[in-house]
Amino acid sequence: MAVNSITITKPDDWHVHLRDGAMLQQVANYTARQFSRAIIMPNLTPPVTTVAQAKGYREQILAATRDYPDFQPLMTAYLTDSMDVEEIVRGHAEGVFTATKLYPAGATTNSAAGVTDVKKIYPVLEAMQRIGMPLLVHGEVVSDEIDVFDREAVFIEQIMQPLLQDLPELKVVFEHITTKDAVDFVVAAGNNLAATITVHHLQINRNDMLVGGIKPHLYCLPVAKRELHRQALRKSATSGSNKFFLGTDTAPHAIGDKESACGCAGIFSAPHALESYVQVFEEEHALDKFETFVSLNGPKFYGLPVNEKKVTLVKQQQDVPDLIGQGELTIKPYRSGERLGWRLVTE
Ligand code: DOR
Ligand code: ZN
Repeated sequence: MAVNSITITKPDDWHVHLRDGAMLQQVANYTARQFSRAIIMPNLTPPVTTVAQAKGYREQILAATRDYPDFQPLMTAYLTDSMDVEEIVRGHAEGVFTATKLYPAGATTNSAAGVTDVKKIYPVLEAMQRIGMPLLVHGEVVSDEIDVFDREAVFIEQIMQPLLQDLPELKVVFEHITTKDAVDFVVAAGNNLAATITVHHLQINRNDMLVGGIKPHLYCLPVAKRELHRQALRKSATSGSNKFFLGTDTAPHAIGDKESACGCAGIFSAPHALESYVQVFEEEHALDKFETFVSLNGPKFYGLPVNEKKVTLVKQQQDVPDLIGQGELTIKPYRSGERLGWRLVTE
């Protein structure tokens, strides 16, 4: 029998770019409407590296999401080569930093201040291992010699594997995985390694981005790979394994910055993320595994309680607007202009 609605524990988004200033005001409520909690990426300019900055940023987010008073932003610290161990430990103890984020220097948007050699942050990682604080990893090597489509697979070999060998108890989230290599690696590793999967990597492959004209709004990092990788991601997300969970990596950029001779990486999926994820689970005949992936695995890995609130998605058509926002900050949302088969019911 066809399912017409599904009621589940309210989900969390374990990987979000909310930006700051006017862009934050414009995008924050889309995430707060769909999710109870969100892991907030620290790649602002300048990056969020101190407890004081994270507190200030959290205040800005709470002010921007006043319409959703239950929404809880979980803050992260941006790791640099010279990161102070004490600052991280204190931020964690004070309940300000939930996790830290490792951007290899130069890997993506605002990552110039990132880490040039993981060995340089071993003192921080050792402290995090001791206190049980998760490390969130953008898993791509940065090297002119490595093809952009191979950067995740090479990262596993060169960085991730040695890191987990040296720090066998460190909790690590392999963020926004895009390859079968990453899926296989996560499945084979211990329970201290988990991965987030975006909805766009479950729905698009590199042909969608490049065939019939380049689609800048489907360009993100890590870049979408060939179809066999997308299939592996869909299989792992819908498998019921507790090592995989939702992280949209929603990353808004103004339309002019995307449709450009040097377009920015990032897909703005926040407005209808759950409607797209549920479609994938329906197509894979795995609606019974949907709640596990979107609402239960994340808190379990982070050691946080599962949300008490419920949400309902109904089988009802809705159109995604062509554009969101105004003026210079206008954004083209993910699946812009498409008709979706599901709708999130909100109070
Ligand atoms: O596509 C992406 N956009 N990938 C990232 O890693 C960063 C993000 C952004 O901040 O725009
Ligand atoms: Zn991201």
